[in-house]
Amino acid sequence: MKISNHILTQGNISNNQLDLAIAQNYPNGIDFCYTDPPWGNGNLKFWDTVNKKMNNVEIVQIDQEALENRVVQLICTNVKNYAFIVYGVREAKSLMQKLRLQPKVVDIQYIEKKYKSGAKWLKNCVIAVTLSNNVPKEDWVTLLTNKNGRDGLRVVLDKFKGKYQSCLDAFIGQGFYLETLHEYGFHVIGNELNALRLEKAISRLK
Ligand SMILES: C[S@@+](CC[C@H](N)C(=O)[O-])C[C@H]1O[C@@H](n2cnc3c(N)ncnc32)[C@H](O)[C@@H]1O
Repeated sequence: MKISNHILTQGNISNNQLDLAIAQNYPNGIDFCYTDPPWGNGNLKFWDTVNKKMNNVEIVQIDQEALENRVVQLICTNVKNYAFIVYGVREAKSLMQKLRLQPKVVDIQYIEKKYKSGAKWLKNCVIAVTLSNNVPKEDWVTLLTNKNGRDGLRVVLDKFKGKYQSCLDAFIGQGFYLETLHEYGFHVIGNELNALRLEKAISRLK
């Protein structure tokens, strides 16, 4: 569906609804990617359970290995300049190994983050991938260190504003990134498994 300047599909990332939408709307590629996939088999199972409870639907949930291959394939087939993947610190190594094998990947930078969730300190990371030799090599480690959540996205968007327009987010969730991208005037193409979470995301745009 098209909402404002965004193209949003709903369903399991294992299926091809997002690929079809990209082929139809961005046949020449998407400028950059900023996305927050589930990480680890426990987390994938959690999202499957949430989806079942909220929408009363059964899916065959993808596993971590297949999800990483799918994320790499989506990015390397469709994204032109840079990709930022927010990911788990334990799982980052296996995703970066897969990215390194791709001829299109010019540079990979790893930025570890510490953030507070309730009383607990947790860690995640951003994997910043350069996908073209024709774009400036940025020091994303310096730019993104200590920039958590949407603050990290804003740093990237401040750099890209006026230069790029389209962004791939294959895991829209409740649309926090979508909302920020929308506020900055970027055009998002993305997907979400959970129909009710996607509805919430869309309601942020109104
Ligand atoms: C970490 S959240 C994304 C959060 C998002 N950045 C936001 O702003 O709300 C990961 C999302 O992946 C979705 N997901 C889990 N399994 C999926 C699958 N097999 N296909 C597509 N999306 C899936 C979940 O429903 C969840 O909304």
